Amino acid sequence: MATPHIEAQPGDFAPAVLMPGDPLRAQRIAKMLMPDAKQVNGVRGMLAFTGEVNGKPLSVMGSGMGQPSITIYATELFSQYGVERIIRVGTCGGIAPQVQVGDAVVALGSHTDSAMNTLRIPGVHFSAVADFELTRAAVEAAPADQKVHVGSVISRDHFYLSVEGQLENLSKYGVLGVEMESAALYGVAAEFGKQALTVLTVSDHLLDHSKDMSAEERETKFHTALAMAVAAAHC
Ligand code: HPA
Repeated sequence: MATPHIEAQPGDFAPAVLMPGDPLRAQRIAKMLMPDAKQVNGVRGMLAFTGEVNGKPLSVMGSGMGQPSITIYATELFSQYGVERIIRVGTCGGIAPQVQVGDAVVALGSHTDSAMNTLRIPGVHFSAVADFELTRAAVEAAPADQKVHVGSVISRDHFYLSVEGQLENLSKYGVLGVEMESAALYGVAAEFGKQALTVLTVSDHLLDHSKDMSAEERETKFHTALAMAVAAAHC
């Protein structure tokens, strides 16, 4: 049983899937966490692996960039492969002033400029929210020296197009950061009655370019976000 975008067989995916945007990052995560992991997808280069962490099954798969891409994969994983929870691990651009490069952001809710959730329940402004149990597990797993922000982000469709004054308004409303997938992921999870969460590392700050991160710092912070995501996967 393959789907249009996944060649895996039934049982190839663990109930919990970590989803970075970049499939090569999925491969690096799999190699790091699960040296014996088996590759279960290669269609369109959207690599997926399944193995075990601390004796518990885990899968890692790339989502690609943007809400349509993650929606395709999350829909097929939830509806065809028995996946129960997806934890997106990625980066975001900081918006709120209290957010610093290197901080972790747990996306409790996700605003969007996309129509993907608008189309779900006609006449309703859908609220894209994370699963509470997963959120709690991720936040509790953060080391004491890791700054963690829990709140709203925005999933935008455009990476490059900027709307005048929008970032400043979002900042005024306490929106922590911008990325491109979480709102749609939460919509798909709601559609199938499944669990989803997004754990992000702040890679840059859109309203304060003085804050930046070295390559080494980037890697360390990413490992922390990954540990938080694994805790959510196995809670
Ligand atoms: N948009 C803008 N800046 C960013 C993003 C994004 O999606 N992710 C990381 N920095």
